[in-house]
Amino acid sequence: MIRSPDTNAIKEAAQLIRAGELVAFPTETVYGLGASAFDDSAVQKIFAAKGRPSNNPLIVHIASLADIEQVASIAKGSLVEKRLGLLQHLWPGPLSVILPKGARVAPTVCANLPSVAVRIPKHPVALSLISAAGVPIAAPSANLSSYVSPTTAQHVQDEFADKLRIILDGGSCEVGLESTIIDICSSPPKLLRPGGISFETLRALLPDLELNRPSQDTPILSPGLLKEHYSPRTKTILRGSMPPQDYPAHVALISFTDQVPPEAAYCQVCVLSRTGKLEEIAARLFSTLRELDKARLDLIVVDSCDEVGLGRAIMDRLMRATARYSSR
Ligand code: TXA
Ligand code: MG
Repeated sequence: MIRSPDTNAIKEAAQLIRAGELVAFPTETVYGLGASAFDDSAVQKIFAAKGRPSNNPLIVHIASLADIEQVASIAKGSLVEKRLGLLQHLWPGPLSVILPKGARVAPTVCANLPSVAVRIPKHPVALSLISAAGVPIAAPSANLSSYVSPTTAQHVQDEFADKLRIILDGGSCEVGLESTIIDICSSPPKLLRPGGISFETLRALLPDLELNRPSQDTPILSPGLLKEHYSPRTKTILRGSMPPQDYPAHVALISFTDQVPPEAAYCQVCVLSRTGKLEEIAARLFSTLRELDKARLDLIVVDSCDEVGLGRAIMDRLMRATARYSSR
């Protein structure tokens, strides 16, 4: 049930978390489906509810840096400690950091890896919930596995209906794309997933930071990097990857500016930003994909942008959303 995040709702949600149940809550990136990170059977419920493969670890959310010792085991004077020191002013914010796992974190959270992804989210409702629960909250995005991430409480409700006792409603997510994931245990440190904090911003702090380029003989560092992910059910392609004369009957365009090309008779055009502002495009992308996915279209055509700043995360999600159609 969708609940306004007043004191009572937060209190009830926190009780559910402590009792080993699931709660959906807003963050500034996307909505999360949370459980106590210390409770292995509660965490297993997340995997069951989402239909998520058990080898895909979750992000652990804490409310303040003072709680980091509860979830990560960072040796004094280590390189990891030094790197975290350089990044920590980006918290609260859309950044998840891979750290050596703390002993209390349930093994299922980390898919039995020796590392844990940690994030301090910026949304006040998320922070209140974590503080009230008194335990770190493990949470993936609150969508069925491989579907588009939710950026409103209604999106969560659409997929989980009455399966969740509480969906805290924090409005539309400000960032609209998932957090950036950075592995600072590896040398050099690696960007595992582009997101709300840009590679350029991180590289200014960690000059040896590298983009992660998975090759066939290295294992998947972050299973969320699987190629097909975030996909609408309607066939979705990047603009320019099919000649407009080959378009089927009902085609919608997601345009990044109000300069809509006259190339085809689109039956619907969604303009994400009048001037191509990346923050506006990111904030509206997932909700627009979900909305168009309900519209019984034959094809969704999406604009692209340069892979710079937030544009890297936008294109990463679009490459995944279109992956299953671009190879055919
Ligand atoms: O913005 C976000 O990050 C949202 C909100 C709810 O915080 N969460 C989110 O979670 O996007 P999810 O489950 O959709 O993505 C988590 C990603 C996965 O790609 C997973 O592989 C990676 O985090 N991950 C988690 N723990 C990891 C670890 N120990 N090593 C490498 N990757 C890890
Ligand atoms: Mg996800």
